[in-house]
Amino acid sequence: MTQNKRLVKMFVYGCQMNFAEAERMEGQLREIGFESTEDAEKADLILMHTCCVRETAEDKAYGKIGEIKRLKREKPSLLFGVTGCMAQKESEALIRRAPHIDFVLGTGRIGELRRVVEELLAERDGYKGHIVDVAESGTLPEDGTPARQGTVSAWVPIMYGCDNFCTYCIVPYVRGRERSRLPEDILREIEDATAKGFKEITLLGQNVNSYGKDHKLADFAELLQMADKVDGIERVRFMTSHPKDLSPRLIAAVRDGQHICEHFHLPVQHGSDSILKAMNRNYTTERYKALVRSIRENVPGASLTTDLIVGFPGETDEDFESLLDFLREIRYDAAYTFLYSPRSGTPAAKLDGQVPDEVKHERLERLMALQNQISLEQNQKLDGTVQEVLIEGPSRTDATIWTGRTRTGKIVLWPHQKGEGVGELAQIRITQPQTWVLKGERERAEG
Ligand code: SAH
Ligand code: SF4
Ligand code: F3S
Repeated sequence: MTQNKRLVKMFVYGCQMNFAEAERMEGQLREIGFESTEDAEKADLILMHTCCVRETAEDKAYGKIGEIKRLKREKPSLLFGVTGCMAQKESEALIRRAPHIDFVLGTGRIGELRRVVEELLAERDGYKGHIVDVAESGTLPEDGTPARQGTVSAWVPIMYGCDNFCTYCIVPYVRGRERSRLPEDILREIEDATAKGFKEITLLGQNVNSYGKDHKLADFAELLQMADKVDGIERVRFMTSHPKDLSPRLIAAVRDGQHICEHFHLPVQHGSDSILKAMNRNYTTERYKALVRSIRENVPGASLTTDLIVGFPGETDEDFESLLDFLREIRYDAAYTFLYSPRSGTPAAKLDGQVPDEVKHERLERLMALQNQISLEQNQKLDGTVQEVLIEGPSRTDATIWTGRTRTGKIVLWPHQKGEGVGELAQIRITQPQTWVLKGERERAEG
């Protein structure tokens, strides 16, 4: 007896944590007979996993929610659920604004997805209401199998939530307090992924350095060391590190680990001490610079990336110049740059001295131009070197050009050679370093 499979289309916005969670949600749905589709028109269930870190993220989600109204009209049996950070923030307001949404699950409730979908499917005919559940501080069930999107790299969340309350940021309000997963659950998941052929594991958390502060069974450096020893693992990555508690032990773990990649994503957010203070980041530019020195001394060749916000309330021309000077001094490999977006309920949104939009945009452009120049110069240092690349497969635009990453996280492109396979390591000589990618060619073995 073959029963038609039900199809789910996922829309995922936001950070890596959201992508990791979406894989777990899809895993839950597979257990109750769903298959994934890329085609929203064919779907029986549309699930949107949302972000609200900036207004633009919410605008994107609302745009998509609007589009789905038509699908729902054409196919009334379609189920439509909104989950994640924006769901947590908006709660019932989402349904008031878009009554075609059937259910809203907050960040602590996505473990309930399977039950909620089953309930709604069972009630289908007589069903009139909506389900809204945004109760706080749940975690994802540990027994499911994530429907992983890649074949080489796997995301593994190690903790949920954030306790830092940077004054611009909504994450602590929508994701609740820090909760660490148990080391044994994390290790089991890593072992399961490597047994299935995944080579690279990225450990995820809003602030991985605080891992284990709650259960005290292992701290983050210890967790990294345990992951490093898992059979079949080729690379261990992690993000995000908060500079305020990046420990010397963590730097040592990266230095001494065999598979732990030499890349630190260490968001500084700003280069002016008064802005850092107003942001409640709990470090000064001096302390941050000392950390960077320690990283560079201990892990030569490590790459360093950051997040930056321009236009925080009260940011003067002088503050902004300090930020540019800071970048010139640190010389990041890459920076993710954002326009400050006021988030209601956060302290910074109520501050005087909100920066006008034109000024923000103008500063962002200057910032990006400077960082692009620095990124290019950083990459040019690798000209002629041979890099170990973990092969990800054909690039998006040209199937004969393959792509992969260096241990430091840089994207490499090269002409594919016969016999090169996805998930293998290749030695690539860099011949054309650019701002965002390194182009190269396969290094021929001597003799
Ligand atoms: N936990 C991570 C980052 C989470 S959000 C960390 O602390 O590093 C990702 C990035 O979004 C932040 O690093 C910050 O640069 C940016 N961001 C957060 N809130 C923002 C806001 N209100 N406006 C603009 N950018 C913001
Ligand atoms: Fe937001 Fe700060 Fe927490 Fe990062 S550390 S998620 S920026 S509050
Ligand atoms: Fe966005 Fe939530 Fe991540 S607000 S950045 S999806 S933690």
